[in-house]
Amino acid sequence: MAKAIVITGATSGLGLSHAVYLLSKGYTVFGTSRKKNPDLKELKKIYLRDHTKWKFSNKEKTEVKAGRTLAPKKIIDNLDDLLEKIQFYKMDVTSDKEVNDTIKEINEKAKAVNGRGIDVLINNAGISFYESAEGLSMENWQKTFDTNFFGVLRTVKAVLPFMKERGEGQIINTGSLGGLIAIPFQSHYCASKAAIKLLTEGLHVELRQLNIKVSSLTPSDVNTNFNKNTGKLTNGTFGELDSINLKEMIDNNPMDKKSAHFKKSEQVWSVIIKNLIVMPPPIAISRKVTRIIKARKPKLNYYAGDLLQQFLLLIVRRFVTENITYFILPKYYGM
Ligand SMILES: NC(=O)c1ccc[n+]([C@@H]2O[C@H](COP(=O)([O-])OP(=O)(O)OC[C@H]3O[C@@H](n4cnc5c(N)ncnc54)[C@H](OP(=O)(O)O)[C@@H]3O)[C@@H](O)[C@H]2O)c1
Repeated sequence: MAKAIVITGATSGLGLSHAVYLLSKGYTVFGTSRKKNPDLKELKKIYLRDHTKWKFSNKEKTEVKAGRTLAPKKIIDNLDDLLEKIQFYKMDVTSDKEVNDTIKEINEKAKAVNGRGIDVLINNAGISFYESAEGLSMENWQKTFDTNFFGVLRTVKAVLPFMKERGEGQIINTGSLGGLIAIPFQSHYCASKAAIKLLTEGLHVELRQLNIKVSSLTPSDVNTNFNKNTGKLTNGTFGELDSINLKEMIDNNPMDKKSAHFKKSEQVWSVIIKNLIVMPPPIAISRKVTRIIKARKPKLNYYAGDLLQQFLLLIVRRFVTENITYFILPKYYGM
């Protein structure tokens, strides 16, 4: 019987793409998020946006035009059907009760289908704000860790009793290249992803003897609505901006205007916005996820996405001193 996969944060970006791709490969997919009944038309719009090749159409790189579709025709033609087949559950990863109850419910549902229960947990839900380390309130620092770090730990703790009982299972935690290097005005996010990296290493060693395979997946930047969602979370007035309208996104730097860092943050925000739109689509990461699930002996860590970004960062981290790295990095962001 097909493996049953739980994906957190399945209503957007990477999580939505994993759900669609894994369903297209015959897996049973349970998608979770904070939404009770996600609007499938909205999800389709997001999926198509994320899987379009966008090209800059002016010199200032503030306008883009749509190029070809980056997902296979077979998926695009069956998208409505695939979205219908995702079994959605509301599960806010910051709530102990919601996570425990929902994972139990999904496990029962999965068991009824495959006779085993949840085979694979993909921890993917994640958030970020756009603010300096000093400027971000303690409440929002905690919110970042409660989602990106404790959200993962909470879900792992909820699923482990079922996996241990069966003596098998697999967990994939989503990291970020931002967990290897601190991006300006995202140190809360980077710190939470660095913590995930070490949590995953610990779990990998501890759970191996119980036949529960734990890996981390470290994507490069990926073209999703992540920046838009970051803007919305940071500043309510960011509203419903169209993430394809780069000029509008850039002009609406969500950082607090009263911040001492606001002036510097303008250029950094512009670099971040212009960068993401030309990055690989989420399906590039979903293909790697499928390989991890199929691997007989999954490795501890997998990188996926933009090759140049991965290569540069790994070279820099290995061969360039931190003093030099953090001398060059602000220049890249125009600080
Ligand atoms: N995009 C990139 O460049 C990139 C690069 C490296 C790593 N990543 C990581 O990849 C993961 C997905 O990113 P993305 O780009 O796909 O972001 P996204 O488009 O903003 O999607 C985030 C997902 O997380 C869910 N979520 C947020 N808070 C939640 C909570 N408290 N409980 C449950 N679900 C929650 C959202 O669903 P609802 O709002 O419906 O709850 C949404 O489905 C994140 O962990 C991110 O850090 C992204």
